[in-house]
Amino acid sequence: MTTLLHLDASARIERSISRDLSASFVETWLQHRPGDRVIHRDLGANPPGFISQDWIAACFTPEDRRTDAHNATLAESDTLIAELEQAALIVLGTPMYNYGLPASLKAWVDQVIRVNRTFSFDLARGDYPLEPMLSGKTLVCLTSKGEFGFAKGGIREDMNHLDPHIETFAHYLGVEERHFISVEYQEFAGQRHEHSRSAAEQNTLALAATLARSLESSPNLQQNGL
Ligand SMILES: Cc1cc2nc3c(=O)[nH]c(=O)nc-3n(C[C@H](O)[C@H](O)[C@H](O)COP(=O)(O)O)c2cc1C
Repeated sequence: MTTLLHLDASARIERSISRDLSASFVETWLQHRPGDRVIHRDLGANPPGFISQDWIAACFTPEDRRTDAHNATLAESDTLIAELEQAALIVLGTPMYNYGLPASLKAWVDQVIRVNRTFSFDLARGDYPLEPMLSGKTLVCLTSKGEFGFAKGGIREDMNHLDPHIETFAHYLGVEERHFISVEYQEFAGQRHEHSRSAAEQNTLALAATLARSLESSPNLQQNGL
């Protein structure tokens, strides 16, 4: 059995394009592998708390010296990290907000990328002291954007602080294989949007089927299969 972590970050609960894509992916996956387990964490509906001074102090307190107050401060982070640890596949549906991550997704990232828990820090490593402690995960990132031209070579490539940011932090989630599918033109509607949306839907279904079928031969997914 493989565990999927299904994350949705759109603040829109209804009529959300990124939610539609992530739901289609998971539905197709389960058609191929009905015995697999899905943990659904709805970040848009229930955003994680922001980290705080107390949170940082608790993180840097060695585990054997943590007080009950420290443990309570880290409880949400512990829960979210436990979900991440179990997952071989992360299915992330997210909108672009203000050219970057929705705050709910950033709050989740800050809660799960945690020193001595999901990454280690050692200056003996020289200029790159951080190393992820998790490995072997696959990320499927399904995004929706109101404008267009955010892909490489597009007219708004330089304004895309969503996909490159996700690419960068995914390493610290233990992601070793990643797939990005995007819908654009939502704010323009019309044929260009319809075309972008239907291509993304088809690509999402095809990707779910391909990854589910290739599971047996995929060392990454197998390694994390629970
Ligand atoms: C608060 C907010 C900020 C947004 N910022 C941007 C933006 O910077 N660039 C863009 O292309 N679209 C932007 N949009 C449009 C969304 O990316 C678009 O509506 C997308 O479809 C939202 O995803 P969803 O359909 O899954 O909710 C924004 C929408 C909202 C509500």
